[in-house]
Amino acid sequence: MILMNDFKGEPEELKRAQVAAAERVILSGWYVLGSEVEAFEKAWAARCGAAYCLGVGNGMDAIEIGLRALGIGPGDEVVTTPMTAFATVLAVIRAGATPVLADIDPATALLDPASVERCLTPKTRAVVLVHLYGQLRAMDRWVQLCRGAGIALLEDCAQSHGAAHDGRVAGGFGECGAYSFYPTKNLGTLGDGGALITNREDLGALAGRLRNYGQSQRYHHPHLGMNSRLDEIHAAILSARLPWLDAFTARRREIAAAYTSGIRPGRVRLLAPPLQPGNHVYHLYVVLAEKRDGLIAHLKAAGIEAQIHYPIPIQNQEPCRGLARDPQGLQHSESHATRCVSIPCHPSLSDSDIDAVIEAVNGF
Ligand SMILES: Cc1ncc(COP(=O)(O)O)c(C=O)c1O
Repeated sequence: MILMNDFKGEPEELKRAQVAAAERVILSGWYVLGSEVEAFEKAWAARCGAAYCLGVGNGMDAIEIGLRALGIGPGDEVVTTPMTAFATVLAVIRAGATPVLADIDPATALLDPASVERCLTPKTRAVVLVHLYGQLRAMDRWVQLCRGAGIALLEDCAQSHGAAHDGRVAGGFGECGAYSFYPTKNLGTLGDGGALITNREDLGALAGRLRNYGQSQRYHHPHLGMNSRLDEIHAAILSARLPWLDAFTARRREIAAAYTSGIRPGRVRLLAPPLQPGNHVYHLYVVLAEKRDGLIAHLKAAGIEAQIHYPIPIQNQEPCRGLARDPQGLQHSESHATRCVSIPCHPSLSDSDIDAVIEAVNGF
């Protein structure tokens, strides 16, 4: 079976580096907020070109902490996309703010700036921009839009590790960027993990307190924070995996290029290509098919796993049916949700796996 993710197929050298990292932490006798977290935070901030990085418990918490550090909470509206992981919107709700859903651009499935503009009200305090599937696009426009509206831009970078636009890396365009290091992410640990990056000293300092019960110094709690710390063992694993990120991203791009040139448009359609090669890190390679169930069954019969990101747009999730939205509706997210299919795109795929995927898709 050609899987959506295949950790067992990763290089032996990487596996050994991870075992050594875990052993180092186990033998160190120090497990929470120590030198491993500090070292990884420094390395990830440098890789992202950010001044500050705070390791947190997961990607959802990173968004919540980012919003809370920006002073966003009850009474404030935050505009975001309905075509995302539920965690994006749940983080806004957990911060106490009110999500407002804008529609996507059907050509890319990314948030549509014109729809966001229709969602702005005097209560809007931020846009949470999701770099869906791994792609940065129209970043100048997003920065201008948020600046012009006097609101914050928080980037949800859970799928876009290392994606860049004009040399700037995801998370560096807005006030802060929220990363997930869930195992399947382009940079992932062996459990849950996340980080918030920012260039603003005040946000970095507050986020560092919020992740640790709002504590400023031992037993002093000027804020009502949460418990969301990156564990030493995960930081050590992430430090072991970080040197592989660029090569893994290059391989994802090779696979994506092969799909883009090899898949013949017909019953399966492609999304619009990125504007700059560095814009996309292909966390997911997504195609569109009217007869989606048929395509997934056809791929399965050929020994190829496929998934859907995402089958239910946020407005159709039970607790979110009443959320405010673009007055012109969210029809592009509805339509995308019925047609999108993610096909395998990860660094462990062999050249013959790639050929097999292309042949199976073209055979549909
Ligand atoms: C776009 C997006 N945002 C947020 C998250 C949440 O990350 P985590 O699972 O680490 O909480 C994810 C991961 O599922 C995601 O894909």
